Amino acid sequence: MLVVALPKGRIGDDSLALFAKANGSKLEFEDRKLILEAGDFKFLLVKNQDVAEYVLHGAADIGVAGLDILEERNYDLVKLLDLGFGRCKISVGMKNEDHLDLNAPEITVATKLVNITKKHFAKKAMSVEVIKLNGSIELAPLVGLSDAIVDIVETGTTMKQNGLKVVEDIMDSSAHLIANKNSFIAKKREILALYDRIVKII
Ligand code: PRP
Repeated sequence: MLVVALPKGRIGDDSLALFAKANGSKLEFEDRKLILEAGDFKFLLVKNQDVAEYVLHGAADIGVAGLDILEERNYDLVKLLDLGFGRCKISVGMKNEDHLDLNAPEITVATKLVNITKKHFAKKAMSVEVIKLNGSIELAPLVGLSDAIVDIVETGTTMKQNGLKVVEDIMDSSAHLIANKNSFIAKKREILALYDRIVKII
């Protein structure tokens, strides 16, 4: 049996639909239940940002996680496959009337993605103070908390509706199938069989 950590939230529905197809049955978590057994799988319903933790620590053999989170935390995991959904960009945003001043002595950037942000600005030799937030990142420049943000842009609507613009793209992200390193050895046959099934349906 394979234990699969599935994300709630923006890539949740696509992940459930994919595994339902791979498993040949409808998958529905009952009411508030967080574990669902179906066919050869045990599914765990976890918060988007936590999937990789379950897989890293071996509580799940495989899972679905955004490349942004994998990049941010640099996990020691097997990246099996780009699933192609949950596509978005990680971008730098600022107020419409502002611009990125490469010569500024220091800028303040609000983000959930602290490491990606630091790496990006270090490459540009820009000094940044990073303010870690957990959500509603677009608010920060509007109320003077930061000069800029680094955040996920999917449709661009949140930035637009809040008078922000993208000034730079940092990376593309999408949902990836990941595996625990030990599981990948111990359950290689099962994982590769699933991999083959998924490759055929995506
Ligand atoms: C993400 C991201 C942006 C928004 C981008 O937020 O942080 O706010 O989605 O999507 P869009 O380009 O389609 O408008 P999420 O919904 O995950 O909520 P949170 O970051 O506020 O928790």
